[in-house]
Amino acid sequence: MSHIQIAVDGPSGAGKSSLSKATAKRLGIVYVDTGALYRTVGFFARSRGISLDDIENVVPLLGECSVEVRYENGVQNVYLNGENLGDRIRENEISMYASAVGKVPAVRAFLLETQKKIARENSVIMDGRDIGTVILPDAPVKIFMTASNEARALRRVKELAEKGMPADYETVLADMIARDAQDREREIAPCVPAADAVVLDNSDLDFGQSVDAIISIVETTLRGKGMTL
Ligand code: DC
Repeated sequence: MSHIQIAVDGPSGAGKSSLSKATAKRLGIVYVDTGALYRTVGFFARSRGISLDDIENVVPLLGECSVEVRYENGVQNVYLNGENLGDRIRENEISMYASAVGKVPAVRAFLLETQKKIARENSVIMDGRDIGTVILPDAPVKIFMTASNEARALRRVKELAEKGMPADYETVLADMIARDAQDREREIAPCVPAADAVVLDNSDLDFGQSVDAIISIVETTLRGKGMTL
């Protein structure tokens, strides 16, 4: 049986990760969080003292940056040089570093094969910014998930608080708007919907309704293509 690929793209805080994770569970497929890979390279850059303004300086150091994805007890863990960084990659500053390294073509090339390999070997729902456009352009199902700025910032604040990293709403909102603009307007692999993506705005949907909406898009799209999971 061939593997099914579901590509989920969209700006930060649209609920891509938690919704994709819940959808993966319901469908019995693998959830892949590609943002964690960029966050790990961002963490590496900061740990080497590289500033956000000179982020290109990470390129000559990539040979010393081993990023490995492992699935342990059904959970995706990303290892940097053999170390599982856990929630340390979720800090607000690391979000900005992840977005910054995401603009660098050599970093995107560095992470390309890791992402493609997981999708070759498993049925996946993969979330990121360029999954439907660059990483899995032939994915039968593509969803571009979005929500209002306010809804997304509120969710991010809640998510950080739950992880024990309280953050101020105004700061999170401002950083999120700046990061989204950077992700959307960059020259390489910008965060835009693929031509064949279904756009899902979940500002007014609760979590369960959002998962139902995703499953419904997946089922309808696959049926339309004569495919099944
Ligand atoms: O999904 P996230 O918030 O964890 O992603 C963090 C940053 O990583 C995001 O602002 C841009 C970058 N990123 C990317 O460029 N391409 C991806 N496929 C995923 C994330």
